[in-house]
Amino acid sequence: MVLDVQAVRGILPLGGTILGSSRTNPLGEAAFAGGQSGLDRIKENLASLGVDALVAIGGEDTLGVASKLCAAGVNVVGVPKTIDNDLGATDYTFGFDTAVNIAMEAIDRLHTTAESHHRALIVEVMGRSAGWIALHAGVAGGANVILIPEKPFDIEQVCAYVEHRFQTRYAPIVVVAEGAHPKSSDEIADAKLDAFGHARLGGVGQMLADEIEQRTGKEARCTVLGHIQRGGTPTAFDRVLATRFGVHAIRAVADGAFGVMVSLRGTSIDRVPLSQATSQLKLVPPDRYAEAEIFFG
Ligand code: F6P
Repeated sequence: MVLDVQAVRGILPLGGTILGSSRTNPLGEAAFAGGQSGLDRIKENLASLGVDALVAIGGEDTLGVASKLCAAGVNVVGVPKTIDNDLGATDYTFGFDTAVNIAMEAIDRLHTTAESHHRALIVEVMGRSAGWIALHAGVAGGANVILIPEKPFDIEQVCAYVEHRFQTRYAPIVVVAEGAHPKSSDEIADAKLDAFGHARLGGVGQMLADEIEQRTGKEARCTVLGHIQRGGTPTAFDRVLATRFGVHAIRAVADGAFGVMVSLRGTSIDRVPLSQATSQLKLVPPDRYAEAEIFFG
């Protein structure tokens, strides 16, 4: 399919993929088929289809594979797209703003029940290693406390914040990233691993609800937003960023500048080495979390 401007008319309000692609690991053992490695099959497919360059659109895992394909001689340009916003080499990834707005709207709606029923409501959002969605949605939604993977929490302190919010007659809403965990234990995961060996996270929200209910005597309920955050129509910010990244990725291909990722720096789009894109995850720095902490309790 030739992806010229005509072919992509009308996709701006769509989420997901029009190609049917998804995150997979072509370099994993499972990709070895018929005596051929995933890498060999990729090279063969690109050559037989006459594809000059591969534009890899994704986060840490996808761009990690892209970087390895590049080292193996495939012409690759990377585009940063993940709701996690955790790629070190760009200020923003597209998908993040949409996820934050969905989570913020959910928190806004939960305020009604939290206030009318005098319940503590826990909202579990995505964020395996980085708490960006929790931080932004929590601040935007007026959360009582925000818990992120970067800072293990003290359950006593969380309960103190919740109690205080009840005393001030305003809804206690706790926003927790799926990868957040108490000081005393690791994150909650099930035994299933994905193609990249990551454990499936989830459950910290319910654990918190149980603990809060038991320790404070107040009813506490958990809402897990899950894949709702990753779907539907994108925000204007994400549409503009994705469009600009697309334009610059194609320019890089035309320039023969392979092994780069397009990256947002301030308001400009730059090119950075693909290897830099995933070498370090961008975590929430302590001073950013401290800004949010001012409003806890
Ligand atoms: O990387 C995006 C992301 O949504 C993470 O926030 C989350 O941990 C993970 O993907 C969930 O992946 P899956 O849908 O494969 O369980």
